[in-house]
Amino acid sequence: MHTKLSPRMAVVGVSPTAEISNKLRTIAARGADVINLGEGELDFPTPAHICEAGIAAIRTGDTKYTAVSGTAALKAAIARKFKRENGLHYKPSEIIAGTGAKQLIFNALLATLDEGDEVIVPAPYWVSYPDMIRLAGAEPVVVPCKAEDGWKLTPADLARALTSRTRWVILNSPNNPTGAVYTLTELAELERVLVDHDAMVLADDIYEHIVHDGSFSAPAAAMPSLFDRILTVNGVSKGYSMTGWRLGYAGGPEWLIDAMDILQSQSTSNPSSISQAASIAALDGDMSFLADWKQQLSARREQVLTAVAAIPGFTAIPTPGAFYVFVNCTGLFGRRTPAGVMLSSDLDVANYILETSHVGMVHGSAFGMPGHLRIAYAIDDARLAEALSRMTETIAKLA
Ligand SMILES: Cc1ncc(COP(=O)(O)O)c(C=O)c1O
Repeated sequence: MHTKLSPRMAVVGVSPTAEISNKLRTIAARGADVINLGEGELDFPTPAHICEAGIAAIRTGDTKYTAVSGTAALKAAIARKFKRENGLHYKPSEIIAGTGAKQLIFNALLATLDEGDEVIVPAPYWVSYPDMIRLAGAEPVVVPCKAEDGWKLTPADLARALTSRTRWVILNSPNNPTGAVYTLTELAELERVLVDHDAMVLADDIYEHIVHDGSFSAPAAAMPSLFDRILTVNGVSKGYSMTGWRLGYAGGPEWLIDAMDILQSQSTSNPSSISQAASIAALDGDMSFLADWKQQLSARREQVLTAVAAIPGFTAIPTPGAFYVFVNCTGLFGRRTPAGVMLSSDLDVANYILETSHVGMVHGSAFGMPGHLRIAYAIDDARLAEALSRMTETIAKLA
């Protein structure tokens, strides 16, 4: 059969997290006991009151198309959330809900980017940004951040990267894959650089609720002089353990929200009516479950940092947010596996650990930062302990 793909497909690859999960499934199919430290989601169930709201929506026939950008009731709940938690004031016309934060980011980029445009992407970055930017015809300008700077973009590096072609600067705090969280002061410093340019800011706040030390500052609130050109993207996936419900939302200038609405109207349409109803319960509801989740996650973070510190060849800096530890594994380069193969990249290390101990992790190159591994620790305590002990053992076997 003759197949012909669009040249567009040359600029995208399979998400590396999906790739790891696929590899692990193949190994598990051979009967091995695999542990996935590659997945970007919490292991906790969606809180019961949220599930009940979803079930009630099904039972009461709330199962039809809604307005493309979300129901008035959901937008009102999102507006309340922005005001209550972030001190941000968005009108319903400045709010859109979509099928996950991912779709909203994609729509925002597609609606605004053109050939020759640039988007500043601090690295390490969430794997999807560069591919989405390229799909929209523009160029990602990757700006490497350093562990010494807490994995955060410095004002000097931002100033150097900005050009007349910069359309967006992406700020993801708390960050995937590092867990870095920008403080109010750091955001104010970046604001001072951006004020002299007309680039927009895409604030990806999806991990807002997972901050272990210190507090979260929304860029749109911390950079008031830029408010009119910030798109705040958030969603229920991470903070409420609702990744499968596919509900994200964004607040931003009306002209942009309108364009995203038009794109959505010709592609996915409204996010699931059931998920919208459940998300109202999430956003308006009691969040006391979060304290317990964060306590468990903090304990796991300590467990990972302690194990990593005890592995010769591994180093990691503690970061305040999300549920990831980003490990420098360059200390293992040049070492040999029992089969005599020399490790010379993060992918080699990830593959060695995967094949010998059946523990899966995403390698740093996938996040634009070679020489590292991302450990996602939002899994059951006992399984995490098992994964860390297997990893420690298999690394000890390197010559
Ligand atoms: C930084 C970041 N942004 C956005 C998303 C997408 O979230 P959603 O499930 O709402 O599409 C993820 C998911 O892993 C993420 O890590």
